[in-house]
Amino acid sequence: MTNESTQTKYFYITTPIYYVNDKPHLGHTYTSVACDVLARFKRLDGYTVKFLTGTDEHGLKIKQAAEKAGIETQIFTDGVSQNFRDLVQLMNYSNDDFIRTTEDRHKIAVQALWNELIARDEIYLDKYAGWYAVRDEAYYTEDELKDGPNGKKIGPSGAEVEWMEEESYFFRLSKWGPKLLEYYAAHPDFVMPESRFNEVKSFVKSGLRDLSVSRTAFDWGVKVPGNEKHVMYVWIDALTNYITALGYPNKTDEMKHMWPNAIHMVGKDILRFHAVYWPAFLMAANIPLPRRIFAHGWWTIEGEKMSKSLGNVIAPQDLVDRYGVDASRYFMLREVPFGSDGDFSHEQAVNRINADLANGLGNLAQRTLSFIYKNCDATISGAVPEKLNQDDAEFLAKSSMKFLYEMVLPLMEQQRFDKALELIMQAVYAANAYIDKEAPWALKKTDMDRMNTVLYNLCTSIKSIAILLQAFMPDSAARILDQLDVPMEERSFDCISHEIPAGTKILQPQGIFPRIEKQEAA
Ligand code: ME8
Ligand code: MG
Repeated sequence: MTNESTQTKYFYITTPIYYVNDKPHLGHTYTSVACDVLARFKRLDGYTVKFLTGTDEHGLKIKQAAEKAGIETQIFTDGVSQNFRDLVQLMNYSNDDFIRTTEDRHKIAVQALWNELIARDEIYLDKYAGWYAVRDEAYYTEDELKDGPNGKKIGPSGAEVEWMEEESYFFRLSKWGPKLLEYYAAHPDFVMPESRFNEVKSFVKSGLRDLSVSRTAFDWGVKVPGNEKHVMYVWIDALTNYITALGYPNKTDEMKHMWPNAIHMVGKDILRFHAVYWPAFLMAANIPLPRRIFAHGWWTIEGEKMSKSLGNVIAPQDLVDRYGVDASRYFMLREVPFGSDGDFSHEQAVNRINADLANGLGNLAQRTLSFIYKNCDATISGAVPEKLNQDDAEFLAKSSMKFLYEMVLPLMEQQRFDKALELIMQAVYAANAYIDKEAPWALKKTDMDRMNTVLYNLCTSIKSIAILLQAFMPDSAARILDQLDVPMEERSFDCISHEIPAGTKILQPQGIFPRIEKQEAA
């Protein structure tokens, strides 16, 4: 342990930077919660962590949104960016930095990357003509198009496209196909889940064409150095945020240590940009690649796409008002296998939260601790060794911190949040079954030593569960650990084998997870 702990372990986790043409909703919250959970888990596991989120503020789509709102573009983006910052407080994200692409530090980084690509002859000036979708900020080829409403053509995402012709800089994406495929083959976990990785590989195998990376039709973007008629394509601008925040173009310690340990968490909608374009830009500029890109699935709402026109957009504030922050975080990550699509309904949320949190974990903590508070002078007496039996051995083997940690760790390494939570919940169910079977309330009349032993085992299990859940539900887990009087410095994973000292005084237990009434949620 000592050798390991003197060696610093680094972890860098990023959310997409969100477009400021819209208010944050369940989808944005989902990605950021997943990142926050990973960041917190790694910190508890002894890593030096950097967690980055922020906003993507350039491009035609933002320009048009500001025009529509009748507000000067920078002032418009200041306002909407703040909505995403407010979400940090609301959802309890532990991000270390919040980046905006309109910041100077970012413009410097993108222009430096651009100059590097020019110097290496990876970018050249030419003319572009093609079908452009403003909504996606992407060009599509003729064969990707379908007929949409009103005689207009639409791209694969359903976004309307229009014909564009302009002078443009091009990135030599076509030449990087073979190198990308080689890299993918050598790094089988570079993109997850595997099914998505396969889609990326077949896209690259089908042949890449050079990518238009500048625009002249509008000026809301980072200027191309030396040719200010052009602003950079919003994706080259946006993707660079991940290294801006590490101090690029300076050769910083963070570029050295954090960057190779980076995970980009994204929705499946923007995987191509992250798994194809971004690695190609980086290779072309001779910058190492991040460790992994994880593409999670898509939330629909009661079977429908979330959209303003359908009026079914789930606002994070609404979730928090109904369920509380931690229960909302829990539900999002528990309900759907991470990587798969999910359908949201309040009915499912109520059922899940009541079953797992109110009746499961909340009930376990409440009945154990209030029993101790009322019947044992608020004191955890400790186990009496000669009173330990086979039931206890089985129970403790499966609910010890060491056992749970060793099961949960590889799942977290694979971003299987749902499985990790399922496993932790199994420990909760086991503990509820144990208390029913051992019935400390009956032992109170017959065998106090046995009763104390059972209660001690339960507290051990609750402590292990709460320590692991800190990453998912920081406040609620902290409240459980507070009630058990676990000192702050004893809450990280390296205290895995520390036992609760006999004689520990507990605080008056307070219910952690109220039951949600169905009609409240209707
Ligand atoms: O694409 N389900 O920003 P964006 C799940 N600025 N996740 C969802 C979702 C849903 N229904 N809706 C949105 C951009 N998301 C670019 C990114 S990164 C260098 C630039 C989440 O505001 C998901 O993470 O459109 C998706 O990838 C992201 O929001 C897109 O946010
Ligand atoms: Mg989008």
